[in-house]
Amino acid sequence: MDFNSNGSEENELYRAQIHLYKHVYNFVSSMALKSVMELGIADVIDNHGKPMTLNELATSLKLHPSKVNILHRFLRLLTYNGFFVKTTVNAKEGGEGEIAYSLTPPSKLLVSGKSTCLAPIVKGALHPSSLDMWSASKQWFNEDKEQTLFESATGESFWDFLNKQSDTLSMFQDAMASDSRMFELALQENKHVFEGLESLVDVGGGTGGVTKLINKAFPHLKCTVFDQPQVVGNLTGTENLNFVGGDMFKSIPPADAVLLKWVLHDWNDEQSLKILKNSKEAISGKGKDGKVIIIDISIDETSDDRELTGLQLDYDLVMLTMFLGKEREKKEWEKLIYDAGFSSYKIRTISGFKSIIEVFP
Ligand SMILES: C[S@@+](CC[C@H](N)C(=O)[O-])C[C@H]1O[C@@H](n2cnc3c(N)ncnc32)[C@H](O)[C@@H]1O
Repeated sequence: MDFNSNGSEENELYRAQIHLYKHVYNFVSSMALKSVMELGIADVIDNHGKPMTLNELATSLKLHPSKVNILHRFLRLLTYNGFFVKTTVNAKEGGEGEIAYSLTPPSKLLVSGKSTCLAPIVKGALHPSSLDMWSASKQWFNEDKEQTLFESATGESFWDFLNKQSDTLSMFQDAMASDSRMFELALQENKHVFEGLESLVDVGGGTGGVTKLINKAFPHLKCTVFDQPQVVGNLTGTENLNFVGGDMFKSIPPADAVLLKWVLHDWNDEQSLKILKNSKEAISGKGKDGKVIIIDISIDETSDDRELTGLQLDYDLVMLTMFLGKEREKKEWEKLIYDAGFSSYKIRTISGFKSIIEVFP
């Protein structure tokens, strides 16, 4: 909202109130989206194959009649927010017809079973464990020790929380894996980054979603998914894809290239420097032809559009509060890369809001 207009004082006050309230109630849109995801509305409309009326939706979802109007109100907000479009169906001569809802590109990302399904991200990001900690933010600001908001609120780190509960650990890994599938499109446009490599280690590669896609595109590339033993311990690989458990802060298995996708933003500069130095050591056998491939956000407030930058800044606070990590601007990436002893890098935007940074020894 632009406050620089020369409107009257009252007008400015009204507009300020709208701006404030909009940000106070942003959570309603997020939670309504989560409700719609949990109900499986995107799946129902997708299976139906054509726009669905409110009554058809309510019947398919087996809702109690008292909930039909409630569903209408949720759909009204989410249609306004761009998740559904309304069309008129069953119009008889002289009659008005009925409103029917169809999916839009963002709600198609909630259809399960599709390679582009991002429903696990909605589930993970809006899980009570990620939301409840915010009530402790004032207490966190007033503490005299360095810990995450998550730790301040719960008494344990997010990693410890995940590792002690197998269902939350798999929910987190599912969320990561679902986002990784978006990587397939980016990979098609950035194949040259992986060409000429004989081996690659995907550090913090989770359950291997990204590595499997790279392996599919480059079947002769020897790939290793390197992650914490509790994440990869029970996973079995294939001829050219193996899983290795370990600690990236101690050492990283050698390869021509190290991939760090969505890893460095979990860590502060000191920790990221350690990971990058260990990555440099891991590619040292390949001499000047080795590389580290970082996939992460690179914030550019001056040239990116506001919606994109807003999302990146939201992510920055998620990383800060959960891990004391950070989303970095280009100059921060540059400093980290040169401080770790690398000689050059290339950066370019991929998959909408992330960048790919090739780093050379
Ligand atoms: C945000 S996830 C990214 C997963 C994956 N790269 C992706 O993009 O889907 C970060 C990963 O780092 C792993 N990780 C955390 N600490 C680690 C450590 N000390 N050594 C190796 N992996 C670690 C986590 O288990 C998790 O899978």
